[in-house]
Amino acid sequence: MKGKLTFTIIKPGAVANEHIGPILKIINEKGFHIAAMRMTRLSVKQAQEFYAVHKERPFYDSLVEFMSSGPIVVAILEKENAVEEYRKIVGATDPSKADEGTIRKLFAESMQRNAVHGSDSDENAMIECDFFFNRSERFYKDQDCCW
Ligand code: RTP
Ligand code: MG
Repeated sequence: MKGKLTFTIIKPGAVANEHIGPILKIINEKGFHIAAMRMTRLSVKQAQEFYAVHKERPFYDSLVEFMSSGPIVVAILEKENAVEEYRKIVGATDPSKADEGTIRKLFAESMQRNAVHGSDSDENAMIECDFFFNRSERFYKDQDCCW
């Protein structure tokens, strides 16, 4: 249901650096329920499609190359006001500007290799959840989260 879900990716750098566990611990401690989760790897084509919104940006090709460079963890997170609450704990895109204690402050290596993705709107959260998960793979705590 709108407002209660967001979508995240633990990006290739954070997976390679063995940060899956510490990042999931923060997510749980901040009150998010993990409603779906899988480890996978994006093909170049999938990464292009996922980040299509950025295709005119100068960093697009490099972002696609990075996001398809190794395994990732994808997950649906459930909490009231999930999109905004998750972006608060993720921190700024540029880790040098991220607040203390945020995931990017703790685990990002650079602006591009910035540990995690978080949806930027309810509408995009729905699109991104649908990109990776079918209904039978979702285990919501709140039964109102029907999509
Ligand atoms: P995300 O979508 O991954 O949660 O990150 P975001 O909203 O904070 O940032 P966005 O503007 O959506 O950018 C998507 C990802 O592209 C890479 N990026 N590189 N100038 C750069 O080099 C640059 N700007 C953005 C980052 O990996 C960013 O998370
Ligand atoms: Mg974004």
